[in-house]
Amino acid sequence: MRGVPQGVAAPLTRAAIFLVVTLNPGPENCTAVRSFCGEFAALLRAVDFRDIEGGLSCVMGFGSDAWDRLFGPPRPAELHPFREIRSGARHAVSTPGDLLFHIRAQRMDLCFELATQIMERLGDAVSAADEVQGFRYFDDRDLLGFVDGTENPRGQAAIDAVLIGEEDAAFAGASYVIVQKYLHDLEGWNALSTEAQERIIGRTKLADIELDDSIKPTSAHNALNTIAEDGKEIKILRDNMPFGRAGYSEFGTYFIGYSRSPRTIEQMLENMFIGRPPGNYDRLLDFSRAVTGNLFFVPTATFVDTVPADQPAVAAPSTGSPSVAAPPTRHAENDGSLGIGSLKGDIPHE
Ligand code: HEM
Repeated sequence: MRGVPQGVAAPLTRAAIFLVVTLNPGPENCTAVRSFCGEFAALLRAVDFRDIEGGLSCVMGFGSDAWDRLFGPPRPAELHPFREIRSGARHAVSTPGDLLFHIRAQRMDLCFELATQIMERLGDAVSAADEVQGFRYFDDRDLLGFVDGTENPRGQAAIDAVLIGEEDAAFAGASYVIVQKYLHDLEGWNALSTEAQERIIGRTKLADIELDDSIKPTSAHNALNTIAEDGKEIKILRDNMPFGRAGYSEFGTYFIGYSRSPRTIEQMLENMFIGRPPGNYDRLLDFSRAVTGNLFFVPTATFVDTVPADQPAVAAPSTGSPSVAAPPTRHAENDGSLGIGSLKGDIPHE
């Protein structure tokens, strides 16, 4: 039976923190993170309740190596480390990251409080790899001046796009997420005419209307990111956020894409970085550089809530690492229970 999903399809918010940490070596740190998993929902509820209008949500994801160290088999079918891509001057880097916290709220103080509480609980078990505070910029624009998020699926279409189904039944209701932190050459971008920028994005700048196919280049960002299988478009769910430090000329977009299969986003990245066909790449990348890149698995909230803290530190045959634990025995996906008893209430903002 499917567990309760985490809030991957939470509504867009005005603020977000993208926190990526690495799991420190040693079995005691794995135990600390497993124990944290059981407290996660209560922590979220506690901070959320301080302003119930604030729409606080938090998605927790696990990288491929961390999954083996924390949970062992069974593994999500498509979980693997982020695959870097190099093509010409373009480089989709793969950077360290074991856990992702995607914290969203209408107010940054709520996000910040939750991030603080999470790091306090995790303590020495983890080290910060990257932390970005994102803000909503005017009418959902990125710092390049274009509205970002328009073609996101909504309602049931969003759920269908992000939640694993029967294709990996043991993990039904879970998702994959890919994050990349991009820095923009805003000076170079702003030197382009508005028309040239529109041909790169594939939409008009002011009114955010899709360019007609007769004038939209095949290298346009929205053209390369349209993926079809058997004549059906495969959608992903994005919640990109601008971030920056004006005093340091730092202007960026934090890309975050949820999907029921990482393959869809990987195909988009290949189209953008290598090109479709090769060479016909995304000109957005002439003005944007990826400085991080990670793939995480987002198990259901039920799974997270029912991770047993104390697992015998038995090495799994796949890696032989001393910190690899035996497979959990209380996962709802495995025993068919919804784990409602231990969920202690609703998962906020599903
Ligand atoms: C530099 C970072 C990026 C910026 C500033 C950016 C910006 C945009 C903008 C302005 C749009 C058009 C409006 C919309 O439909 O949302 C768009 C569309 C889209 N982007 Fe990005 N994007 C970035 C990176 C990425 C990456 C890395 C991916 C996937 C790997 C991606 C996937 C998509 C998809 C799927 C669409 C919708 C295409 C459609 O159906 O029309 N974007 N993006």
